Order: sequence, then C-alpha cells, then structure tokens
Amino acid sequence: MVTLPNGLRAIRELACGEVMHPGAGPLVEAESVYVTPSRLASRLGEPGEPLVLLDVGLGAATNAITAWQVSEARAVPGRRLEIVSFEHDLDALRLALEPDNADALGLTRTGPDAHAAASALLADGRHETPRTLWRLCLGDFREALAALPDACADVVYWDLFSPRTAPALWTVSMFKSLRRVCREGATVHTYSASTSTRSGFLLGGFAVGVGARTGDRDETTVAATRPEDLAQPLGLSWLGRVARSSVPFPNDVPAEPAARADALARVRACPQFSGLDEATG
Ligand SMILES: C[S@@+](CC[C@H](N)C(=O)[O-])C[C@H]1O[C@@H](n2cnc3c(N)ncnc32)[C@H](O)[C@@H]1O
Repeated sequence: MVTLPNGLRAIRELACGEVMHPGAGPLVEAESVYVTPSRLASRLGEPGEPLVLLDVGLGAATNAITAWQVSEARAVPGRRLEIVSFEHDLDALRLALEPDNADALGLTRTGPDAHAAASALLADGRHETPRTLWRLCLGDFREALAALPDACADVVYWDLFSPRTAPALWTVSMFKSLRRVCREGATVHTYSASTSTRSGFLLGGFAVGVGARTGDRDETTVAATRPEDLAQPLGLSWLGRVARSSVPFPNDVPAEPAARADALARVRACPQFSGLDEATG
C-alpha cells in the first residue's frame, strides 16, 4: 500500500512499480473513469438480458465492487448484472481485503456487504445475489479472451498495467479480439488516453471518443461499437495528432514507413471521421 500525493491510499505492484488508480485514488477513479461513464445504473434499468461486464484486470477489485454496488443498490430490479473479472495474480485482492486496507479500497462502505462478496470471489471464484452474478476468470486474460464466445459483452473495464509496462496487452490484435466479443451497443472504458491506445481501438474496429478527466489526467478514453454511443468522438484535430505523434500506433503495427502509412490511412478511413470538415471536426 502506498500513499498518493492527495493523501489517499492505493496499491503499488512491486514487480512493475505501477500504482493502481494513481491519480485521484481508487474510489474516485473507479467511479469517474469506469462506472459513471458506462451508465451502469440506467443500462441496468432497461428491460432485457443480463448486462455482461468484462472487468479486465481485477486487481484490488475497486472497479468491480463499485459496479457491484450500483447493481445491488437498485430499488427496482431491472436487468441482472454479470461481472466477469479477469486476473492472473490475486495478491492485490488479498491485500485489499485486509482490515487495514479495506476502507481505502471501498470494501467496507455502508450497504450490501462488498467485503463478503469479494471474499467469496477470492475463496470460491464466484458470488451470486438475485441482482448480480460475479465470477472470477483466473489466468492469462489473452487465453481467456480467445475462449469467449462472439458478442457476449456489453461493457468492458480495460484496466491493465500501462502500454509502457505491458505493450503486448494494448495491441491492435488484442483490440480486434476484444471487438469480436463485444455486442452491438457495447462500450469500453480505460484510463489510457495515449494516441497509440486510441489508434489501436480504431484499428481494432471500435469508434473512439474522449473520456472524463480524472486526477492528474486531462482525458481518458471510451471506445464503442457504435459512434452514437460516444459523448465526445475523436475528430479531425486528433487525426492531426496521430500524424505528428512519435508513437502513433501499438507495437504490432510495424515501424516501416509503408506499414505506418497504411495504418494511418486505415485510421483516417474510420467511419467516425467521414463527413467531418475543419468546422465540425
Ligand atoms: C491496474 S491493475 C487493475 C486495478 C483494478 N481494476 C482495480 O480496480 O483495483 C491491473 C491488473 O491486471 C492484472 N493483469 C495484468 N496482466 C494480466 C494478464 N495478462 N491476464 C490477467 N490479468 C492481468 C494485474 O495482475 C493487475 O492486478
């Protein structure tokens, strides 16, 4: 556990040195980057099949438990929430559940017993209530993703260690695989606002927009299967940025000029940029 500059507590992974929710702290970032932008409360209020949320990088479970609490707190039952949390190392969750840390990581808030739910997830790999099913998928996310059926997910919280630390998880090929498992209307939420992350999502088949400001980040990113689900789609000024960037694409786009030019042309041809001119874009 480390103390952030704002005095809040968060978890730092020793192996890579990265802090989970390093800017505004775990509770604020879970809410502002993931749960609020994914409009969980209103989507759960709609009639229909269970809403499936892929929680990629369970970590200390702050994102997942914040979503779980929204589902559990609903006065009127609507759709059921199914959270599938992906993780290959449960140490952060173990640490979060310790009595000294649970408060800071949102596991002891008033209301339904989040600590008991997360403890059950750790012990049994699942926790179920009438409103929410929460399952753990233990192992490498890349293998788990390949095994998921097509069009099974409505919401994705993409919260892995950063592209700098784990570039293999932020590739065009990963985002293509992610697009395959997303249903029409799905949205993907991530803290990264880097040009290469955004071009990766576009080349993977998503529409991409600017996500909320949080902590020390001016922007985050929302990707969607439909451009109309984005509050602030990327426009022409962002396209100008890709052309000037020193790291415009994920590292599975070869560095040769011809490959870069082809990737840039494919990004420019994405439907969300068609019909934009200097005035609108
Ligand atoms: C930034 S932390 C996630 C924080 C978390 N969402 C939360 O709310 O506390 C990233 C997590 O992704 C996990 N992770 C990294 N690579 C992974 C992989 N290939 N498969 C599964 N989990 C992975 C790490 O172990 C780490 O716990």
